[in-house]
Amino acid sequence: MAIMTKVATSSASGADPEFYLPADAFFRASLPTALTFDDVSLATLYSDILPKDADTATALSDALRLQIPVISSDMDTVTESRMAIAMALNGGLGLIHYNMPAKEQVKEVARVKRHIHGLIQDPITVTPEQLIGDVLAMIEAKRFAFSTFPVVDAAGRLVGLLSGNVVKDRYKSKPVSVVMTPRAQLITEKESAVAKDPIKAADQFFSANVGLNKMLVVDPAGKLRGLVTISDVEKITGEAKSRRKPARDSQFRLVVGAALSPVRKPDGSLDRETILAHVGHLVDEHIDAIAVSTAHGHTAGVGDVVKLVRAAFPDLTLIAGNVTSAAGVSFLADCGANAVKVGQGPGSICTTRIVAGVGIPQLTALYVAGTAARKKGVRLIADGGITKSGDIVKALTLSDAVICGGLLAGCREAPGEIMEISGKVYKQYRGMGSLSAMKAGSAARYGHDKNDNARKVAAEGIEALKEVSGSVDEVLGTLIGGVQSGMGYLGAANLAELRAKARYIHVSSAGQKEAAPHDVIEVSTRKN
Ligand code: XMP
Repeated sequence: MAIMTKVATSSASGADPEFYLPADAFFRASLPTALTFDDVSLATLYSDILPKDADTATALSDALRLQIPVISSDMDTVTESRMAIAMALNGGLGLIHYNMPAKEQVKEVARVKRHIHGLIQDPITVTPEQLIGDVLAMIEAKRFAFSTFPVVDAAGRLVGLLSGNVVKDRYKSKPVSVVMTPRAQLITEKESAVAKDPIKAADQFFSANVGLNKMLVVDPAGKLRGLVTISDVEKITGEAKSRRKPARDSQFRLVVGAALSPVRKPDGSLDRETILAHVGHLVDEHIDAIAVSTAHGHTAGVGDVVKLVRAAFPDLTLIAGNVTSAAGVSFLADCGANAVKVGQGPGSICTTRIVAGVGIPQLTALYVAGTAARKKGVRLIADGGITKSGDIVKALTLSDAVICGGLLAGCREAPGEIMEISGKVYKQYRGMGSLSAMKAGSAARYGHDKNDNARKVAAEGIEALKEVSGSVDEVLGTLIGGVQSGMGYLGAANLAELRAKARYIHVSSAGQKEAAPHDVIEVSTRKN
């Protein structure tokens, strides 16, 4: 009784600090055992935060901010432009894989960046001398989904607008100058009037000028400086009212990243010219991040690629990995990475730990990597092994964002055919270290050469199927709802507070059983 009184009055938090430990004490106390998601649970804390108000915004560099801390993996069964567009519209980021010709990857990036514009600063134009037939051929060749073009003279001055309703086969032999709406009849906007907020200016312009659907922006010399379309403005203003904000760059374009292959010459040395030329093309398309994605990032080869790209593109956001050590994080940070990917073997399709016997359970890896990330001022990304929203919350207590592969591979926006087996629908999901993916281009990621037929390469991933899981909107809606719940339980208004407040407890196998539904027959379908 005397002891109970003493404990009860010793402090408001009683025994909590002794049992629910902060990361430093907890992961050290667990030594020499490494822990992963299901090994731990987070302690609840006093909260005045409603889950819906918890702010999930994060940053991968000073330049690249996301509204949600979720990135779709650079895998050929997860992220191409369709997935990347859906990720960015939900506030996250898609990393376009590199198991495709370099030119195709640039096109995929361009598709995301051109999805919705604010002010299009380099609109496609035509000249007064061109024939309508030439314009039709250009639309066909470039597969433009629009047919209205500003008309400019050789000096770049606006001389008219070619409206889509005259770009028709019957007018093909007529020059643009004959069928265009001439400059004198056009209502334009001054560059100085839109510079501050092109979307607000365009919104007001379209309300004031009934029936117009293009705002043409000109400078004092009459040169065309940009174009805003009413459909883009309506989408953007509509999004502002919606629950989730898209992740956009400073020009209102959706953000996107791309994985970079450490291409080598036949003699094994880095093909510097090819790498730099490819990154240059991606930068021309306004890429927001490049990810040097390999299975082993703490290597001379990966360091050289990061240094090469950093030297040539000082302002580009660079992600590099993967590592599971403090030394690995420091190394990549010193080479110039802004964010480091952590994860070796936790992925749902990975067999690295079985094949190579290496890798660290993910939460301990994140903790150890985090000790260096803090010192070096780089961000950490938890890559692999996430199977439910609770795993994301745990990962975010030790990192800035998570990468998901398997959780998104079943979405309709992921590449790949839908197949039906015994009445259930599935999509293919394969490891980038699986034999088929390595043959398709990802061998370098695992330190192999896809053309080397003399040596038998060991696959470090499997080919699998995922049950089709609906749209990215639905999957992310559920996942982010779970993340905000976790933040509410910890009283964390934002992700920095989540990291600072997290207190951990080790869970026994009986505790893991207790954590999932048990001793009932489940009748509803549970979503993670
Ligand atoms: P999840 O668990 O989200 O993991 O499906 C996706 C992450 O797994 C990594 N990855 C691999 N790791 N062999 C590996 O050891 C592979 O074949 C493989 N393919 C992908 C990658 O980091 C991805 O983001």
